[in-house]
Amino acid sequence: MINSRHDDQRLMALVLLVTAAAFLAPGCATPYHMYLTWQGDPSTTMTVNFQTPRAAPEGIVYYDTAPHGQDFEAYRFRAAAAPHRVPGIEDKRAVYSVELANLEPGSTYYFIYGVEGRRFSAPQQFRTVPNDGSPVRFVVGGDVSVHPRARRLLRQAAATDPDFVVIGGDIAYANGDPKNLWLWDYWLQIWRNSLRTQEKRVIPGVFALGNHETNDDFEEPERNAPFFFGFFAQGGSPYFALQFGPDLALIMLDSGHTVPHDGAQKEWLEATLQELEDVPLKMAVYHVPFYPSHRGFDGSLSVAGREHWLPLFDAHGVAAGFEHHDHTFKRTKPLRGGQVDPEGTVYLGDGCMGVPPREIKNEGAWYLEKASGTPHFWLVTVADGAATYEAIDIHGEVFDRYPED
Ligand SMILES: [Fe+2]
Ligand SMILES: [Fe+2]
Repeated sequence: MINSRHDDQRLMALVLLVTAAAFLAPGCATPYHMYLTWQGDPSTTMTVNFQTPRAAPEGIVYYDTAPHGQDFEAYRFRAAAAPHRVPGIEDKRAVYSVELANLEPGSTYYFIYGVEGRRFSAPQQFRTVPNDGSPVRFVVGGDVSVHPRARRLLRQAAATDPDFVVIGGDIAYANGDPKNLWLWDYWLQIWRNSLRTQEKRVIPGVFALGNHETNDDFEEPERNAPFFFGFFAQGGSPYFALQFGPDLALIMLDSGHTVPHDGAQKEWLEATLQELEDVPLKMAVYHVPFYPSHRGFDGSLSVAGREHWLPLFDAHGVAAGFEHHDHTFKRTKPLRGGQVDPEGTVYLGDGCMGVPPREIKNEGAWYLEKASGTPHFWLVTVADGAATYEAIDIHGEVFDRYPED
């Protein structure tokens, strides 16, 4: 845990209070923890996730391209899904992941969600990602936690009006332990309250695994990272790819936390990069850096990444690798074949979107262009087939940019 025990106790008391207040209020089965993920094409689908204290037969989302308030009969579309439970969690909560399909790309949708016979949510809205080559903008950060700094950075991220936010692992620091469910309750509340725009548009999330999602039960990923797989509907695999319009693909990887770099994941990575050959900007997101700024270059998971994945990144021209885990800010020089190459991949990190920053121990390393202990996130803008990357601090200021001009 990154917080002191004293902080933990204060947070725990707050969470219990808030949770009790929510559950004991009239209409106690009002759904909570709503967040958006993708299981399919981000231009034409959206998955609305939410929870209720006890299971109902199905979770329902009413949606339309026009607002209808809480008049559910006026919505043109309805989607529903049966609930599931997260193994190991002792309370009776139900998790619903309702996928909306056949949506219009680049469009605003209005929706309400809930379960039959109980009060539905207030009206919400989301936007699908365009797929006609118009600009796509997204945020990447990692190592978040429930520290107050996380809330401030997530709010700054939302203020950039991104199409979506990517988290590169070490999310709530619950270590896959059901006893730490309160950390997830607190984290999802921070996410829900932060990840919306001024127009009250809810911003979708894309999530990669970190070591602090897992309890080291290597029998099966769902037992090793029960909250990660139980809460985030993303197709069920620890590695997956999403394409955003014609120019951008994100490849989400598990840097050895529930599955090894090698084997099935490596085979999938190679096949996926081949399939995405015509997509000009392929970017990878994973937790443990190939090129660390704080930890040792010879850490076993860094070595495994460079041995198994880096040659594939080089062969297929991956534009950027988003790295985390070190709790610092860093940008590498463009790298290819283990050396500086202007045509190479730039590695951006190192996971400092809420946790206390660490010192740069690898200052002067041949691969580093810049590094500092600056809490931040990356804002990526893809337009006309090219990407710009801006590092933004807790005050909303851009303090690094690539390409520099
Ligand atoms: Fe971390
Ligand atoms: Fe980590």
